[in-house]
Amino acid sequence: MTIQPSDKPLLEWAGDSLAIGLFEDAVELTGELATLDEKFSGVLKELIAEEEFKGKANSTIFTRVNPGSPVRKLILVGLGKPDELKLDTLRRAAAAVARVAKKQKSKILGFSLPLWNNDPAASAQAIAEGVELALYQDIRFKSEPEDKGSQIETVDLLGFGGQEAAITRANQIVSGVNLARELVAAPANAVTPITLAETAQAIASEYGLQVEILEREDCEKLGMGAFLGVAQASELPPKFIHLTYKPEGTPKKKLAIIGKGVTFDSGGLNIKGAGSGIETMKIDMGGAAATLGAAKAIAQIKPDVEVHFISAVAENMISGRAMHPGDILTASNGKTIEVNNTDAEGRLTLADALVFADKLGLDAIVDLATLTGANVIALGEDIAGLYTPDDAVASQLEKAAQTSGEKIWRMPMEEKYFEGLKSGIADMKNTGPRPGGSITAALFLKQFVKDTPWAHLDIAGPVWTDKENGYNSSGATGYGVRTLVNWVEGSGE
Ligand code: BES
Ligand code: MN
Ligand code: ZN
Repeated sequence: MTIQPSDKPLLEWAGDSLAIGLFEDAVELTGELATLDEKFSGVLKELIAEEEFKGKANSTIFTRVNPGSPVRKLILVGLGKPDELKLDTLRRAAAAVARVAKKQKSKILGFSLPLWNNDPAASAQAIAEGVELALYQDIRFKSEPEDKGSQIETVDLLGFGGQEAAITRANQIVSGVNLARELVAAPANAVTPITLAETAQAIASEYGLQVEILEREDCEKLGMGAFLGVAQASELPPKFIHLTYKPEGTPKKKLAIIGKGVTFDSGGLNIKGAGSGIETMKIDMGGAAATLGAAKAIAQIKPDVEVHFISAVAENMISGRAMHPGDILTASNGKTIEVNNTDAEGRLTLADALVFADKLGLDAIVDLATLTGANVIALGEDIAGLYTPDDAVASQLEKAAQTSGEKIWRMPMEEKYFEGLKSGIADMKNTGPRPGGSITAALFLKQFVKDTPWAHLDIAGPVWTDKENGYNSSGATGYGVRTLVNWVEGSGE
């Protein structure tokens, strides 16, 4: 499928499906659209009246045009109120249209959508992203896929002449999102610490990044007792991934992105019971998936910023070698942790990853983790929790998320709650009381960052969606990649 800008006038466009965006309560046809309607003998006006189309955001209707005419079908998509138009409105409208055009088996699709904020580059990028994200399908594990996929070959963005670079950018970003989707959706017998390290190596060799994989012995030498404690029951070796993107010339900033990479979370000896969602715990490497997806996108976009992509990857399993509840681990910064719950393993793996990143002398660190069910209880399935003591990093991430359309909400870092992690025998426990569980998790992580501005995103909700949602198909969302790319690029300004 090729998405391309086009300066062809609306009235001269020819193809299978022409999609037109209309604002809410402004569906009377004027100007060019009135002429288009005349050209097709009033079919648009009739369709709007018959279907009582009001232009509500994401609503779509379509009709067949007279046989023999240069356009076979017309699709109308609602854009909501004009003063509420967001970049994400365009992304979602484009996704809704792409789904209709796929069902219609269109090959050539045209878009006539308005500009957001007089910004043709951002608008073209969002539209292209919406189309590509919505048409993603994952048939890797089907022997005979029932969904034959879209037949769309060409997508023309009318009125976006000259926006080739914006569309290329969309392609690069979506390639990263789709990598993250594939990694999260693949089960724990397909994505393991070994294969995740291989994926990092493949990205490095394809896009020219530096890569270092620390083996168990390397991690032992660095004193990563918290990470290795989580890994110790598994038959599979832990892998500590460190990818580095270095721009040509002097970097404007040096950043790290860290992702929780638990390829399966059984809970350990505090095993997840019935109804705990244990069968969905392949998603527990969603942070690492977003990290690798961002690496893939950033390596293609080539911003003036150095970025370290880090994940301490392991399985949380049970065996005769498993951590006992109550074991005391020593992290690589020397702090001791009483593991009062082996199911709070993500923070143990992140602890050593944060210490590692903190020593690199960077300007900021962001970690992403499917860390707590408590965050899902607080913010629901669609919104990630943002935890940081640093207002500057918080507003950078909020701005990046605004542009990407990925929802985040800043949560309090209530220091007093750290009392819940006090241990009688070690420096801290890994688990506090149930109330405020996502906050104590963030406060735990904070103990492992000394010098660097840092933020944590709890993505346990948005990493996955059970039903089709906007441009997300049901399943893995690739959440975080788009926000991370914007954050990295924005931080060089
Ligand atoms: N991986 C889970 C968190 C999770 C829950 C991710 C639901 C995605 C969906 C994490 O390791 C975990 O088990 N957290 C526990 C922490 C508790 C033991 C303090 C939880 O949230 O229940
Ligand atoms: Mn767990
Ligand atoms: Zn987990």
